[in-house]
Amino acid sequence: MTTKIIGTGSCPGERVVTNDDLANIVDTSDEWIRPRTGIHERHLTTGLGTAGMAAEAARLACENAGISPEELDLIIMGTSSPEYCFPSGACQVQAAIGAVNAAGFDLSAACSGFVFALMTAHSFLKSGLYRKALVIGADDLSKLVDWSDRRTCVLFGDGAGAAVVTAEEDGFFEGVMGCDGKKWEVLTCQARSGGNFLTEEKPEMGYISMDGQEVFKFAVKKVPECIRQVLDANGTEMSEVKYYILHQANERIIDSVAKRLKEPIEKFPMNIQRYGNTSGASIPILLDEMNREGKLNRGDKIVLAGFGGGLTWGAILLEW
Ligand code: ACO
Repeated sequence: MTTKIIGTGSCPGERVVTNDDLANIVDTSDEWIRPRTGIHERHLTTGLGTAGMAAEAARLACENAGISPEELDLIIMGTSSPEYCFPSGACQVQAAIGAVNAAGFDLSAACSGFVFALMTAHSFLKSGLYRKALVIGADDLSKLVDWSDRRTCVLFGDGAGAAVVTAEEDGFFEGVMGCDGKKWEVLTCQARSGGNFLTEEKPEMGYISMDGQEVFKFAVKKVPECIRQVLDANGTEMSEVKYYILHQANERIIDSVAKRLKEPIEKFPMNIQRYGNTSGASIPILLDEMNREGKLNRGDKIVLAGFGGGLTWGAILLEW
């Protein structure tokens, strides 16, 4: 028993914000941002928020798969920016789309969220417990960035992407996940803190904080490693892979991964130019664009690879 993606959907934040727009807020410029990151503009949410974008992506994914939301058994949402500590965003999506028969929960793995969520859904499908699942990657990091910190605020965008997956007899699905908790401080966003019952302290919300160069070094080493791992486990040659769909954190990271794997850059589609880094949403948004543009054909072998805070990483080789 394996797992197949049968439909995708996505929903970026409602408002487009260019590098020039940001130069009006912080001391930055298009000339600085573009060559270092590949980002030209990003979409920020002005009302939908994480669950609203996720619900729209989910609705479109069900439509694309040709299923009714009532057929879903499970919803797993990878997010590090839910609106609530509880309920989960998955429960909000369940209500919004009417997936009344689905169990749902959120999973926190930062920018690796979609890959971790897809791996988790695969385990449920493979075990035979469920037959149809909705996997979502959704993040609204614009509410977590310090808009006076030019080192981070220029990097991120908001959005959601979703995929409907089913248990199938044919095809294959090979995945790997990992984390290095010792490096947790490299990329953080503190949750509400302080103000316990012994103190008068007012609770505070943290902002995203990042050691950019450490993230860069980690990503360009770990991503090729985990891609090789899934290919080897499956006995698949790199020449057989049609596309490597990587987390869209930085164009230079993707260029560097392609070089390290000695694979042509054309096999690494990118949309970071238009969306910035949408964290857990970046892989499913790109996947949805490629699906709708007719770039994916049944039988194609594709690799998805995510990396991010934790530090976490994961890669999946699957047959489209
Ligand atoms: N505009 C103008 N100047 C800036 C900006 C900005 N937006 N950001 C930083 N600078 C300045 C810094 O203040 C510093 O100036 P100084 O030398 O006067 O102090 C100078 O540029 C160099 O700063 P660095 O942080 O060393 O810049 P670096 O060349 O490392 O580039 C970047 C930063 C783009 C973040 C890079 O480290 C990188 O690509 N890292 C990968 C991390 C990443 O992609 N993170 C995304 C989120 S994590 C994830 O998704 C997994």
